[in-house]
Amino acid sequence: MALLQELDTGTPIRTGEPTVTLTIDGRKVSVPQGTSVMAAAALIDNPIPKLCATDNLEAFGSCRLCLVEIEGRKGTPASCTTPAEQGMVVHTKTPRLDRLRRGVMELYISDHPLDCLTCSANGDCELQTQAGNVGLRDVRYGYDGAKHSQGPIDASNPYFSFESSKCIVCSRCVRACEEVQGTFALTILGRGFGSKVATGGVDFLSSECVSCGACVQACPTATLNEKPVIEHGTPERTVVTTCAYCGVGCSFKAELKGDEVLRMVPHKAGKANEGHSCVKGRFAYGYATHKDRILKPMIRGRIEDPWREVSWGEAIAHAASEFKRIQAQYGRDSAGAISSSRCTNEEVFLVQKLVRAGFGNNNIDTCARVCHSPTGFGLSKTFGTSAGTQDFKSVAKADIVVVIGANPTDAHPVFASRLKKRLRAGARLIVIDPRRIDLVRSAHIRADHHLALKPGTNVAVLNAMAHVVVTEGLVDEVFVRERCELGNFESWARFVADPRHSPEATAAATGVDPHELRAAARLYATGGNAAIYYGLGVTEHSQGSTTVMAIANLAMATGNIGREGVGVNPLRGQNNVQGSCDMGSFPHEFSGYRHVSNDTARETFERLWGVPLSNEPGLRIPNMIDEAIDGSFKWLYVQGEDIAQSDPDTTHITAGLKAMECVIVQDLFLNETARYAHIFLPGASFLEKDGTFTNAERRISRVRKAIPPLAGMADWEVTMALANALGAPMRYNHPREIMDEIAATTPTFKGVSYARLDELGSIQWPCNDAAPTGTPVMHVDHFVRGKGQFMLTEYLATEERAGPRFPLLLTTGRILSQYNVGAQTRRTASTVWHHEDVLEIHPFDAEQRGVRDGDLVALASRIGEISLHARVTERVQPGVVYTTFHHAVTGANVVTTDNSDWATNCPEYKVTAVQVRRTNHFSDWQLRDREEGVSLRRMAKALADAAE
Ligand code: SF4
Ligand code: SF4
Ligand code: SF4
Ligand code: FES
Repeated sequence: MALLQELDTGTPIRTGEPTVTLTIDGRKVSVPQGTSVMAAAALIDNPIPKLCATDNLEAFGSCRLCLVEIEGRKGTPASCTTPAEQGMVVHTKTPRLDRLRRGVMELYISDHPLDCLTCSANGDCELQTQAGNVGLRDVRYGYDGAKHSQGPIDASNPYFSFESSKCIVCSRCVRACEEVQGTFALTILGRGFGSKVATGGVDFLSSECVSCGACVQACPTATLNEKPVIEHGTPERTVVTTCAYCGVGCSFKAELKGDEVLRMVPHKAGKANEGHSCVKGRFAYGYATHKDRILKPMIRGRIEDPWREVSWGEAIAHAASEFKRIQAQYGRDSAGAISSSRCTNEEVFLVQKLVRAGFGNNNIDTCARVCHSPTGFGLSKTFGTSAGTQDFKSVAKADIVVVIGANPTDAHPVFASRLKKRLRAGARLIVIDPRRIDLVRSAHIRADHHLALKPGTNVAVLNAMAHVVVTEGLVDEVFVRERCELGNFESWARFVADPRHSPEATAAATGVDPHELRAAARLYATGGNAAIYYGLGVTEHSQGSTTVMAIANLAMATGNIGREGVGVNPLRGQNNVQGSCDMGSFPHEFSGYRHVSNDTARETFERLWGVPLSNEPGLRIPNMIDEAIDGSFKWLYVQGEDIAQSDPDTTHITAGLKAMECVIVQDLFLNETARYAHIFLPGASFLEKDGTFTNAERRISRVRKAIPPLAGMADWEVTMALANALGAPMRYNHPREIMDEIAATTPTFKGVSYARLDELGSIQWPCNDAAPTGTPVMHVDHFVRGKGQFMLTEYLATEERAGPRFPLLLTTGRILSQYNVGAQTRRTASTVWHHEDVLEIHPFDAEQRGVRDGDLVALASRIGEISLHARVTERVQPGVVYTTFHHAVTGANVVTTDNSDWATNCPEYKVTAVQVRRTNHFSDWQLRDREEGVSLRRMAKALADAAE
């Protein structure tokens, strides 16, 4: 398969014109100017020995193994640092070069432990390979010369270890940390034999290292090595698949021995990540085989009863008979389903098909409801389709980057590394966020402007930026005239030009310095290619959809749409948020964002599925809960989603679940929602099934089965069995057939098939006759809706306001090592970095409340109260507190309210008025009688004992 081919060219291949032609060992090769002689030789399958070079790092020229002879030049230059030139004649294999290379290698080997046969990298070590390549047979200096480093093995990182005695000081790890990851955690200390790799801390764990694994991958020896490989030896087989965590959608090679995954190696040919990774995708896969996995279906009569293990057949039959009983008793609309953005496109498509064709209603919703539903609404209204406009690579062409309501270094780390690379190369940065996220100030990165707005005022800030653009004559008139609807542009321009939208007039509400805001707006409008990246800090507000439209307005007004380096890019939370929305998971839309009242689209499905379909939008998740409490919604199938933990106002959600007569949870683990379930169906992890995920760039990538489903069935097979039992027949032998059905019914997927995906590696939709290999950049010549539509974006302050009783505003977010509600990452060694959710509070607010760093504090809102430990920090501004929601035991959503986006019901997680006070006990909710409660009680007791 083309996508499995990986060629190590030693140094990066330059792109573009002009090309030069040179002769290497008698063969002619043409390469883009600036390409090294080493890379040119690799392209004609004539690799030159090397140690310090690798093709995702700039050449360093330290090992001297890659020497060549060039006709007309003195000496033996290093091929990795020598650019190919027109007419150059190069020799890579001469007796002199052989002698010199053997001499270099002799020095390396004389200073290296001779334990190849027992070394974990035996057979997978570049030093060993190159020693063979250069024909080293003997070492004249003996084998026990002064070892440059005999320090202890640093095994502090939970996933990899550092054995300094094997280090050849090639500096690849140091450069990978700088160039690829952008963290600068490593350095080389000392000189000559005394030189060694060092972290800024005592060890890797205490250093700045973020465990991305780039150094481990770059290391040509066993110095930096994955712990499972050290323990079990080198892998035997490889399966190329896609990360199951965030919306970056990194491609990985799952490397296995038998059915055990030994490591996940980022795939160089993966276009989303180009060989890079973060700690989650690279290392945190252990949850897939964690002992908490439930591998047998279970049922129970009442949620108070103990679970009873049953066969798949019995569980499915019970679910179907309950469905039939409930629909007969309470009517067609009493049943519904929630699909998951952690499941594949094919699985999501089947769940919505089950609902529409099997239940006869449109009661299907998805967890995207609580994250990016405003993106769907806002971008459809303005541009005509619900998706990011660019590929990730495009950021390399951006001159100005705006990051608003997103924290890429924690939530989308591999994209953050690309972004930081571009920023280090000179792009300018504007951060709009209540918190001082890492991008505001980190190694070699400084934001030009940080607009530290008050939570809930995004729209006011964006309107003020638009005010500056319009009133200072910074509109790209040519773009607007050619590409946008002029009538509504003029209304919009009049609207934002109103003095009430000026930075000065809005400063009291937003808390943003008007001078800073004006400067940021001017920079965005005039600094060249300007790209906007945004996250849940935009969408999870009562004005989430308005904010998305305000962002789109700004991009259109400044002409920053339709080419590389610009655009509007939602950074999607979960791996398949884009895909679950594309697949028709919302109650009002079929796949491809066609409304259920669209007769043409509905008839397409009716013809294929052979049943009449409802043209009425179904229930959203909050409506399902409300109707359950009202007594009319009774049967719910939840695949791969934990609404009892992830959705706001937990008490309301659990009341709704309790009111249902049959709740079916399909998941890897007994999650919070399963507490209220009557039937539990085991789920399958991404390693156990075939399918596709679609990332934030609209990139469809294959998920490939690496091991058989541990519970015997993949999720798509379970949905199919359920459908057949309910009387909605489905027959698929493989997920590829489901994709064929998606392609046959969804115009933007028309050209997608597994064969095409295997051929191209991945495809960005739309993929159809007009774009047979996909569409990296959207809206190039015209918007999907024709002309771009400016929308009026009136700022309406959220009802959730700080007041005397609840004077602080709580906002929430994600941390690097943990993922969403933590169901996966809490079951990995990543808990070493984040074993509990803490509350960030500004020193001023802390002092006023007598709170010290580490104190247990009560966090109360009008909805509920929880307790957690305080972290006193200036990352948050006075008046704002912040926490994560990874640990179920914290119950962060016990305090968040039921406020939601006016257009989509996306919950307003990012603004909750709260009070904070010191306490010495956990809340009643946290101390419910359960495992976590017991451990919290122990912690509470320990705290109380300590206080005495
Ligand atoms: S794991 Fe990543 S962050 Fe840590 S030292 Fe290696 S390259 Fe740097
Ligand atoms: S740890 Fe590995 S990559 Fe780093 S300098 Fe040593 S041998 Fe090279
Ligand atoms: S950046 Fe996202 S997709 Fe990539 S490895 Fe990390 S979690 Fe996985
Ligand atoms: S590979 Fe060229 S000097 Fe090391």
